[in-house]
Amino acid sequence: MKLTQLQLAQFDRDGYLFFPSHFTPEEIKKLTDEVPHLYAQDRPENVREKGKTSVRTNFAAHMYSEPFARLARHPRMVEPVEQLFGEKLYMHQFKINGKMAFDGDVWQWHQDYGTWLNDDAMPEARAMNVAIFLDDVNEFNGPLMFIPGSHKMGALEAGHDTSTTSYPLWTISNDNIRTLVDKGGIVAPKGPAGSMIMFHGCLVHASSPNLSPWNRVAVYLSLCTVSNHVRRFKRPGYIAHRDFTPIECLPDDCLVKDYPVDLPWKDGTPASELYGIPDGQAA
Ligand code: SIN
Ligand code: MN
Repeated sequence: MKLTQLQLAQFDRDGYLFFPSHFTPEEIKKLTDEVPHLYAQDRPENVREKGKTSVRTNFAAHMYSEPFARLARHPRMVEPVEQLFGEKLYMHQFKINGKMAFDGDVWQWHQDYGTWLNDDAMPEARAMNVAIFLDDVNEFNGPLMFIPGSHKMGALEAGHDTSTTSYPLWTISNDNIRTLVDKGGIVAPKGPAGSMIMFHGCLVHASSPNLSPWNRVAVYLSLCTVSNHVRRFKRPGYIAHRDFTPIECLPDDCLVKDYPVDLPWKDGTPASELYGIPDGQAA
């Protein structure tokens, strides 16, 4: 799949592209059938909502689940990002966010590059987020909100919020958000399961708690250009990957045909990936 000149110009202006119904219901069912099984597992990759049992985020399913291992190599997702950066990519992070009915908590205003820079020492914002909706997303179930054009500001000042939710985040002050929204406004792309969003690492985004009776499960892949790999391993390997091998895509029908994939963490996460490595101690 190739992005058009118009799409490239839109991405440059807004910092994101939205592709409604990019994957078919049959393809998405292969993924959604697997999610309850993943969320039920007792493994460190499942981060629960604060004080609740609902899963907020499941990390690195592509290392132990066949359908998600195939998604991680899907050309409809990987090729446009390769085109934009003109370089091969590796998987920096892979997560399935629950945002479960009634329980799904807030994601405060942030840029992902804030975390990649401050925690992982990623040299430049040459990494892209791709979100794929596994449920329909509407105005009630906590859609992702963007401030269009905010990616042009580069990495903004951020504070480390370790208490609002169960997951620490480098967040942006309300004063800065007010200024950015005065200029760019707020948009919240909504659409059926199977829709895809590509968004720039510096695009400021957030989502509200899910007070509706509908889950809003979505997969997020952070694809980093190989030469821009992270330099610090402070976070566990299952959250910020340390394997910079370029992604080789499978054929376009890989979600509905059983192409073989490696599942190196099927029998558990290697001990070396469970913890951060202090600066200066990485091999
Ligand atoms: C994120 O910003 O990484 C996730 C936001 C969301 O799932 O709403
Ligand atoms: Mn984010």
